[in-house]
Amino acid sequence: MKSVTTAVIVGMKGTGKSTLLRGMARKATRLFLLDTMREHGGEVEDVYTDAHALSAFFQTNARGPWRVAFQPDLRSQTQFDAACGVVWELGNCLLLIDEVDLWTAAGQMPDSLYQILMLGRHRGINMVCTCRRPANMPLSWRSQADTWAVFRVLCGADIDALEAASVPCVRRVAELPRFQFLWRRHEEDVTAIGEIQPDGSVRLIKRLAATMARAAREEA
Ligand SMILES: Nc1ncnc2c1ncn2[C@@H]1O[C@H](COP(=O)(O)OP(=O)(O)O)[C@@H](O)[C@H]1O
Ligand SMILES: [Mg+2]
Repeated sequence: MKSVTTAVIVGMKGTGKSTLLRGMARKATRLFLLDTMREHGGEVEDVYTDAHALSAFFQTNARGPWRVAFQPDLRSQTQFDAACGVVWELGNCLLLIDEVDLWTAAGQMPDSLYQILMLGRHRGINMVCTCRRPANMPLSWRSQADTWAVFRVLCGADIDALEAASVPCVRRVAELPRFQFLWRRHEEDVTAIGEIQPDGSVRLIKRLAATMARAAREEA
């Protein structure tokens, strides 16, 4: 895998986050989808709801390729931690976590996730999470994220949090129509507006020039 990424997809409920996440999953050959709301089962070949069965599968299939979804019991932090542990051991994969807010308390995250966030890069673990409340994300996570997709967000605290993470033009997201999002890649200094299609593919609406991005930042 080339450059390892830590991406966050943000937005209010129903704005298109999970659809974008599914689109990102499509091409991955080592895919681990942590399917918090149990809505992506149709996307992969193997779906597990039990951490023991999941571990057993990887005992014989660690090398891959595999496309696996894990649907932990929402009340079980242990299952979530077990899944993160499995991904950590596997390395070299795409980890997608839908509705990560359900596993992280305000400003805090479990150690199992923190390890992947801070050190997963060295193990080739790409991570993309969907999140409703960026204001609740730990600061270390916001500063670690190199890629952002921001659908409509209205809450001022969330917009402030994104601004603090240097997402340019982020004040615009309050006006975005449903299914459109602000796309930001820090590394290449790319800022754009995209639109998610029902099949999970993305249509580019417009690129925002870096200078425009700066201008909007200063204006805000
Ligand atoms: N471009 C689109 N046009 C119409 N419906 C869409 C589009 N993109 C997604 N949807 C549908 O909108 C609903 C909400 O999208 P979803 O990705 O689940 O939002 P979120 O995860 O942010 O709550 C889903 O039923 C999805 O299939
Ligand atoms: Mg969703």
